[in-house]
Formats: sequence, structure tokens, C-alpha cells
Amino acid sequence: MKKIKLEASLTKPILEIIQDKEIEIASSCGGNASCGTCHVFILSGEVSKETSIESEFWKGRKKKKNERLSCQTYALEDIMVNLRQKKNEV
Ligand code: FES
Repeated sequence: MKKIKLEASLTKPILEIIQDKEIEIASSCGGNASCGTCHVFILSGEVSKETSIESEFWKGRKKKKNERLSCQTYALEDIMVNLRQKKNEV
């Protein structure tokens, strides 16, 4: 896991904030809430509530505590997140 700090933004989802920082994050479906590859773990800070689109994605899946789709979630204040990393990354 990679821990990063992100600034609040009501106009860009967390996925875009991460991409703007040129930090690698998978987003196979292009932010359409259908692949789940963009998921992050919110460590601290307030984020937007799950939309019906995101809730629909998690239905029937094992969602861990504080796990969110970064393409569907907005940071309401500065936040810390954990990013999943590829197996060969430390
Ligand atoms: S980019 Fe596919 S679910 Fe977020």
C-alpha cells in the first residue's frame, strides 16, 4: 500500500487528484464505476457519501472498511489515502 495526502476538491474526484499528481492508479473503466480498479482506502479526512452508482458497484462484493471507488468519491477536506500497489512494488 502507498499512503498519500490529497487536498480537498469538490470539482474533481479523488481519482483525478491522484492522476494530476502523476501518481499511477489503475482506472480501467475510465471512471464509470464499473471496474473497481481505482479503489482506495480512506485513512483520514471527510469524503463524500456513496452515490447510488457506487453503492450499486459494491453490491455483492466484499467491501473493506473505508474502501471507496476513487472515481466516485470527493475529498471534502484534506485526506490521507492508501493506494493499492502492484505486487512488485514496495
Ligand atoms: S475507474 Fe473504474 S470504477 Fe473507478
